[in-house]
Amino acid sequence: MDFLPKEIEEYSLAHSAEESELFQNLTRETYDKEDIPRMLSGPMVGNVLQLLVRLIDPKLVLDIGTFTGYSALKIAEAMPDGGIVKTYDIEERELAVKFIADALFGNRIELKIGPALESLSNLNDSVDLVFIDADKTNYLNYYNRSLELLRQGGLIVLDNMLWSGEVLQPKDEDSKAIAETNAFIQSDDRVINQLLPIRDGLMIVQKL
Ligand SMILES: C[S@@+](CC[C@H](N)C(=O)[O-])C[C@H]1O[C@@H](n2cnc3c(N)ncnc32)[C@H](O)[C@@H]1O
Repeated sequence: MDFLPKEIEEYSLAHSAEESELFQNLTRETYDKEDIPRMLSGPMVGNVLQLLVRLIDPKLVLDIGTFTGYSALKIAEAMPDGGIVKTYDIEERELAVKFIADALFGNRIELKIGPALESLSNLNDSVDLVFIDADKTNYLNYYNRSLELLRQGGLIVLDNMLWSGEVLQPKDEDSKAIAETNAFIQSDDRVINQLLPIRDGLMIVQKL
């Protein structure tokens, strides 16, 4: 399901911050080389992440689901000096490694390969912002672990929270997991939240 008419989406993109050449190249190479390139989050989500980063000036950000590095690089580009983005994926992708190594701000990114939940269990640092964009069946686990690590006032952003509209009548495992995560967040009095119908649904959560 497309939530926006194509012309409105194009108009919105044409009136938003433009992507640098690095992100245009990363997107092109991802579409040339990856089997499921649409996993790349893209400029709308990327610009929202960058706005949030600039607003909260984070020291430590977690990016759960690296894929070819788009979201990690977007976040890192907007980070203040000394800030770190820890990005997690179960699979190491050549494009992520290459683009992170070549980016001027790539030294702000630490790529950790392995099941993200396991990597998160070894973390004790206070976190300012988390972007959740990995396997959907673990979304609630990622949310709960992120909330434990998050400082008061910190943010969790979850991608694909409308899952092409399938959350309305969830049938498969992934849609059920996302609908369950939405319902859990909605009744969680530790946070305040807004589900934005941007791209495939972006849930923004602030820890109270
Ligand atoms: C939608 S993609 C991430 C897109 C990326 N955030 C971006 O902006 O382009 C989801 C990623 O989650 C990874 N993934 C799936 N299961 C995982 C797990 N258990 N632990 C860590 N990463 C996992 C996949 O390998 C895939 O690269």
